[in-house]
Amino acid sequence: MPAGRTTLSEYLSQQSAQHLSLHPDLGSLVLEIAKAVQEIALLTSQGALAGVLGSLESQNVQGETQKKLDVLSDEILIQTFRSGNLVAGIASEENDEPLSNPKGGSFLCLFDPLDGSSNIDVNVSVGTIFSILSATPNATLTVGDYLRTGRQQIAAGYAIYGPATMLVFSLGHGTHGFTFDAASGEFILTHPGIQVPADTSEFAINASNERFWEPPVSRYISECKQGKTSVRGRDFNMRWIASMVADVHRILMRGGVFMYPKDTKDPSKPGRLRLMYEANPMTFVVEQAGGLGSTGRQRILDVQPESIHQRIPVILGSKNEVERIEEYHREHDRA
Ligand code: F6P
Repeated sequence: MPAGRTTLSEYLSQQSAQHLSLHPDLGSLVLEIAKAVQEIALLTSQGALAGVLGSLESQNVQGETQKKLDVLSDEILIQTFRSGNLVAGIASEENDEPLSNPKGGSFLCLFDPLDGSSNIDVNVSVGTIFSILSATPNATLTVGDYLRTGRQQIAAGYAIYGPATMLVFSLGHGTHGFTFDAASGEFILTHPGIQVPADTSEFAINASNERFWEPPVSRYISECKQGKTSVRGRDFNMRWIASMVADVHRILMRGGVFMYPKDTKDPSKPGRLRLMYEANPMTFVVEQAGGLGSTGRQRILDVQPESIHQRIPVILGSKNEVERIEEYHREHDRA
């Protein structure tokens, strides 16, 4: 290991020495997640060679067809947690109900095992998103134990399986990024103290939904598209990978605003993304890096969850842009 390179375990030891309020087992939990991430990274990198591409006959609780890699990644995480005694309760996009760990533990982990899975078969970046809550030791868990606001997360993060595998997370003291070094088998701290620029000239939205958007969102996007000739006075760029992890990762690296807003495409759904294992953890990471997360009408981290698989509108990224979009919602609602 070249001198001066901080490994994930070294970083975690430093953090627990520096921040005495951190739960003493939190570092071990992050290492457990990193181990599962390495396994998922290996499978995704093998692609067709591992026979893991394509869909299964089954659907998840959201009614979405499950990809083979969705289910395999879910199994890897569940087995990892169940082989240890750190995570007492597990809630995942792929399982209707939370699962408990007979060995118990001090944490609850909610996760999307493979986010952006429509991208798997076309070899585009996907990721794993996780949210950590504390659990009352030895208590019998109920769904109610999971239904806590995003502010109560004690850690959250994601892994991105892209050209490089990275683990980006926050223990509540800034957001830091680690790149997997296959030669040493270690995650190395490569992006300490990530900061999302407060202003941006880049937005990410699925523009094919435009006719279903609410007026404040249409107004914002229309001004961005008009660029220099609009009140914005500068040109904007648009990007959409259709993998939340990859889109938000780009925003953490260079700023921008990611939107999957409320729309009328399916009136039974208040948004596309899931609050507890997509919106909350990604907002935690972005806010720890100086950005902001909102539904347009409420800060995401303040939303009181009503169910594990609840959906929510998401507007996330550069602070000044998110505040501008919130203001457009207020003006619209007042009118
Ligand atoms: O899990 C939801 C998700 O795959 C996100 O990762 C992504 O941002 C979004 O859906 C893509 O949605 P669409 O297919 O509408 O572009």
